[in-house]
Amino acid sequence: MNMFRDGLFAGKRILVTGGGTGLGEVMAEAYAKLGAAVYICGRRASVVEETAKRISAETGSQVKGVACDIRGPEAVDEMISQIWSDGGALTGLVNNAAANFISPTKDLSPRGFNAISDIVFRGTFYVTLACGKRWIECGTRASVISILTTWIWNGGPYTVPSAMSKAGLNIMTKSLAVEWAPHGIRLNAIAPGPFPTKGAWERLNPDVAARGDSGAVNPMGRVGQMPELANLAIFLMADGCDYLTGQTVAIDGGLHLATGGNFASLAKLGDSEWERIRAAIRSANEKDKSQRGA
Ligand code: HXC
Ligand code: NAP
Repeated sequence: MNMFRDGLFAGKRILVTGGGTGLGEVMAEAYAKLGAAVYICGRRASVVEETAKRISAETGSQVKGVACDIRGPEAVDEMISQIWSDGGALTGLVNNAAANFISPTKDLSPRGFNAISDIVFRGTFYVTLACGKRWIECGTRASVISILTTWIWNGGPYTVPSAMSKAGLNIMTKSLAVEWAPHGIRLNAIAPGPFPTKGAWERLNPDVAARGDSGAVNPMGRVGQMPELANLAIFLMADGCDYLTGQTVAIDGGLHLATGGNFASLAKLGDSEWERIRAAIRSANEKDKSQRGA
């Protein structure tokens, strides 16, 4: 459903991290359709470049793909500096890049924990900081949206590094909403329920039967639809809600209120099932890794 007027984001400049795929791609396209100049980043150069080319051709807006691993603070600062030089200050940031996989916590190595928290917790902070300090310096008003999950409220069994990291970002959102409000910088967050994407399903639902159909247990009887997510991301980004800051909005059809919305039901899996799930996740990881640069 088209809820917003054409040209709503004319003159806006928005970075969507992880915008080459999944929900990030959906939001990048939604902003470009409304006239924003959009930047997307990810580790796989070919993926961000192809997505940028497609969205740009379909919307007529400027969309650029930048290869950047947000785990590196220097690489992040360099990317943000290049974007600023490429046409001026950003006016919006969507912290969407993330990594996750289901695993019993007892089976995680410190490297496994860091693989997720270095991206979600630290990487997101580096991007927010690199933008925020420039906004404050140049006096630009801006809007930040971070993509979280509903388990920030009730915990994420079998996704503990993600749950801990996203909960940290929830507090970053509230803290900086206050600290940066005098500078006209708003920070809000979205906590989506299940919106089927290749990246998430390969790592969280490699065996749909293990968790049951996440659509069927939803009070609305279905998973989320991409335009629903896009509409919320447009609303929170837009100038019309200038007084709205420090909020995290769930968009999950009521799932977390009804069932907890997390992976608690995986307690029933045995070692051999986890072995199979681990193998499926690792094979998805290897495929994606082969598309990254050195
Ligand atoms: C246990 C695992 C594992 C698994 C990897 N590891 N997979 N441990 N179970 N299934 C461990 C490895 O053994 C290794 O530790 C460490 O993690 C690092 O592995 P690498 O493959 O070298 O990591 P890296 O290349 O950095 O890749 C990061 C990644 C990968 C997190 C492992 O999944 C990734 O790049 N993901 C990006 C895309 C993504 O995750 N999208 C989904 C977002 S969905 P050792 O000690 O063995 O060396 C989401 C929430 C959705 O966030 C909510 C739905 C409701
Ligand atoms: P996805 O398609 O796998 O998106 C993750 C994106 O992040 C990828 O484009 C990936 O690109 C990028 N990324 C990962 N590590 C990065 C790094 N170090 N530096 C830069 N970019 C990196 O999965 P998705 O489902 O769309 O998830 C998007 C967001 O929604 C995430 O924050 C996720 O936690 C959240 N979410 C999703 C759901 C859902 O149901 N889908 C539910 C709740 C929350 P590269 O691999 O090329 O780097």
